[in-house]
Amino acid sequence: SSNQMWGGRFAAGPDAIMEAINASIGFDQRMAAQDIAGSRAHAAMLAATGIVSDSDAAAIREGLLTVLSEIESGSFQFSTALEDIHMNVEARLKEIIGEPAGRLHTARSRNDQVATDFKLWVRDQMDAAIAGIEALIRALLTQAEAGADWVMPGFTHLQTAQPVTWGHHMMAYVEMLGRDLSRFRDARARMNECPLGSAALAGTSFPIDRHMTAAALGFDRPTANSLDAVADRDFALDFLSCASICAMHLSRFAEELVIWSSVQFRFVAMSDKWSTGSSIMPQKRNPDAAELIRAKIGRIFGANVALMTVMKGLPLAYSKDMQEDKEQVFDAADNLMLALAAMTGMVSDMSARQDNLAAAAGSGFSTATDLADWLVRELNLPFRDAHHVTGSLVAMAEGKGCDLPELTLADMQSVHAEITDAVFGVLGVDNSVASRMSYGGTAPAQVRAQITRWKEILA
Ligand code: ARG
Repeated sequence: SSNQMWGGRFAAGPDAIMEAINASIGFDQRMAAQDIAGSRAHAAMLAATGIVSDSDAAAIREGLLTVLSEIESGSFQFSTALEDIHMNVEARLKEIIGEPAGRLHTARSRNDQVATDFKLWVRDQMDAAIAGIEALIRALLTQAEAGADWVMPGFTHLQTAQPVTWGHHMMAYVEMLGRDLSRFRDARARMNECPLGSAALAGTSFPIDRHMTAAALGFDRPTANSLDAVADRDFALDFLSCASICAMHLSRFAEELVIWSSVQFRFVAMSDKWSTGSSIMPQKRNPDAAELIRAKIGRIFGANVALMTVMKGLPLAYSKDMQEDKEQVFDAADNLMLALAAMTGMVSDMSARQDNLAAAAGSGFSTATDLADWLVRELNLPFRDAHHVTGSLVAMAEGKGCDLPELTLADMQSVHAEITDAVFGVLGVDNSVASRMSYGGTAPAQVRAQITRWKEILA
C-alpha cells in the first residue's frame, strides 16, 4: 500500500507537509527507553492473562531489547513516515521477530501508551531535579557553615537595612530550595498512577491486569478513569510549575551573584571556572554563568504557559494537540538541570570576601535599629520616639560624614540627654547580629542551628 501505517483504510499517503506537521519522531525518540519498558511490561501482562501466548510474549520482550540496543548504539533508522517513537519501535520489532510483533498492540492504544511513556520520562526528571536540588543545598550548607558568623549587610529595597551573617543569607536559599524539593516530591507522589490499559479512551474488553503493569513500571496503582488517564497532562504541568518556581529561586540568587561579584560590591570572588573574559576589555571578569541561569527562567516559564495554553481548550479525551507537550517539557527539564548543575558548581567554587562583607556591614548606618532598640530597652522610650531620636542621630552622622559609632557621647546627648556610654556597645555589627537570637534570626547560634537541622534532613 502507498500508506505505510493505515493502508487498510487509506488509499493514498500523506502530503509531505502533513508528514512534517504530524511527525513527532524528531523529538519523541527521547522516550525510546520508556516506550520499550512500557511495551515489555504490557507484553508480559498479555501473556500472564492468557491474551497472547507465552512464546509470542517472550519473542516480543526479547525483540524489544534488540530494538533498544539498536537505538542506544545509534544504528536505529528513525522514519518520519512512521510518525512517532511508538510506531518506529513496533515497525522495527516486526522486522526482527515477524508476526508476533503485531500482537503487542492488543488491548492498547497509542493514547495510553504515550501517556505512560511520558509519565515515566517526567518521573525520571522529577527524580533528577530532586537530586540536583539536594546537591545545591549541600553546596550552600558548606558556604553557610564556613561563614556562619561573617557579618554582611542585609538589604531591603537593596538599601542597607540591618547586619546579617553570610551563613544566614546562604540558609535563606536553602529554605527556598527545600520548598522546591517538597514540591517536586509532592508532584511525583501525585502523578505516580499508571495510564496503561486505558486504551484509546474507554478501556478494553480484553481481560487485562492493570495492577500488574502498574507495578512492573514502578507506579503505585493504575489510574482510576480511562478517559482522564489519556486526556491528563497535569503531571507535566506540575513538573513545569515546580520547575518554574525553582528556576525563579535560582534566578534571584544568580542576580545577587551578579551584583555581589561587581567591583562596586566585591562581596564574592567567582572562580575562573565560572567566569568569562571580554574580547576587548582586558580587565573584565564577567559572571556569564549566573546571567544565563537568570535567563533560563524565561524558557521554563514559557514552557509552562505554552502547555497550559495547549491544554486549556481541549475536549476529552485525547487530541493531537497533546503531542505538543513533549518539546516544552524536554526543553524546560534540560535547562533546569543545567541551571542547577551550574549553580552548584558556582556556589562550590566561589569565595566570600569576608573583609569586604564586614566593611560593608558597618556602613550605611546599619545598626540604627539597634540604637533605637537600646533607647527603648534602657531609657524606656516608646519605640516611635526612639525612632525619631535615632533618625536625628543618623542625620547628624550623615552631616559629619561619619558612621554612628564615630559620634561622640556629647553628640549623642545633644539629641537625647539621658544617653550613656553603654550605647556604643550595641553599635558594633558583631553585637548586632549576636543579639538577634529570636528563632530563625541572624545570630550565629541560630544560623548554626538551621545548618544542623538541614544536615539531619539530608542525612
Ligand atoms: N505521537 C503522539 C503523541 O505524542 C502519540 C499518540 C498518538 N495518538 C493518536 N491517537 N494519534 O501524542
